[in-house]
Amino acid sequence: MKALILVGGFGTRLRPLTLSVPKPLVEFANKPMILHQIEALKAIGVTEVILAINYQPQVMINFLKEYEAKLGIKISCSQEPEPLGTAGPLALAKGKLNDGSGEPFFVLNSDVICEYPLREMIEFHKSHGGEASIMVTKVDEPSKYGVVVMDEESGKVERFVEKPKTYVGNKINAGIYLMNPSVIQRVQLRPTSIEKEVFPQIAAEQNLYAMVSKGFWMDIGQPSDYIKGLRLYLDSLRKRSSPMLATGPHIVGNVLVHETAVIGEGCLIGPDVAIGPSCVVEIGVRLSRCTVMRAVRIKKHACISSSIIGAQSTIGQWARIDNMTVLGEDVQVSDEIYSNGGVVLPHKEIKSSILKPEIVM
Ligand code: GDD
Ligand code: MG
Repeated sequence: MKALILVGGFGTRLRPLTLSVPKPLVEFANKPMILHQIEALKAIGVTEVILAINYQPQVMINFLKEYEAKLGIKISCSQEPEPLGTAGPLALAKGKLNDGSGEPFFVLNSDVICEYPLREMIEFHKSHGGEASIMVTKVDEPSKYGVVVMDEESGKVERFVEKPKTYVGNKINAGIYLMNPSVIQRVQLRPTSIEKEVFPQIAAEQNLYAMVSKGFWMDIGQPSDYIKGLRLYLDSLRKRSSPMLATGPHIVGNVLVHETAVIGEGCLIGPDVAIGPSCVVEIGVRLSRCTVMRAVRIKKHACISSSIIGAQSTIGQWARIDNMTVLGEDVQVSDEIYSNGGVVLPHKEIKSSILKPEIVM
């Protein structure tokens, strides 16, 4: 079985993290986002993953070479000469996807985190006999997603409305599809949207079905959702009694600490924290609801909450980083600085406090 992952897009909403790496390689819970997906696909027997790429292809290709061998799965690239949207890549990768076997294939948005009920999806797809299946999930704020109106009993999709302006329903497209090769014939090789052009058409022909996923789901393509997604992900590790979760007197709630990270005396860490490889957390540091990426140094008595700290950054002693601050790669924060929602570009030095949410260029 094959899968196509949509890896394009500039990841604008996740800047400054995406100024250093393409969005799919931004680490989430100590692992590049896209690895969560590739591992889930591998686990249910997918043998080849095709990455639909248009942005920073070389970085992705180098990464793939490493993981192809590590994971034992074929990973190839379908490189777009121009951004082809969410449907155009299907036409471009036609030859790879349609190998004559007639088998359905998966298509995934690269920025969604969930429990990946892919096996259930295959069963669901077989059971209804339609042309495509989409995974849907319920959310409180449906307007920023694709909304699906469906028959509850059969799962048949009646309408698909991308980013509706008025309320249509609260079941939204989770960005994971299983489709028959015939769908490819519906797509032209041009920039085009699967959500706006392909799904409404298949739905009108009564051939589109939706499976409501149980379990958590989050599009982590923007900082606040990334932080929420980490909480949900760690929570699901807790429910499965995962040995990956840290334990100890200095840990509160669900926390991941990479085995190569060093934590000083008297720290209090958690809930909902991920600390990446080679990080050094000095004494008396307080961390909650945050992600600290690889090789970050946090000096003594600093306090970080609801924020994302980019790789190789340094946080000065007694600094306070708060309220959805996002530091790009290699940001140096001086001692005693306060950041209230600062968004800081890579390689910057912060020598005075950021008192209200703003972008520091
Ligand atoms: N190859 C390629 N080329 N990929 C692209 C392109 C492109 O031109 N444009 C976007 N993508 C990829 C993105 O990298 C992402 O993985 C996926 O397509 C969806 O794009 P987003 O920009 O993240 O869209 P969204 O989050 O606003 O909305 C989509 O996802 C929601 C769920 O998270 C839609 O599919 C919604 O219907 C859905 O609810
Ligand atoms: Mg998205």
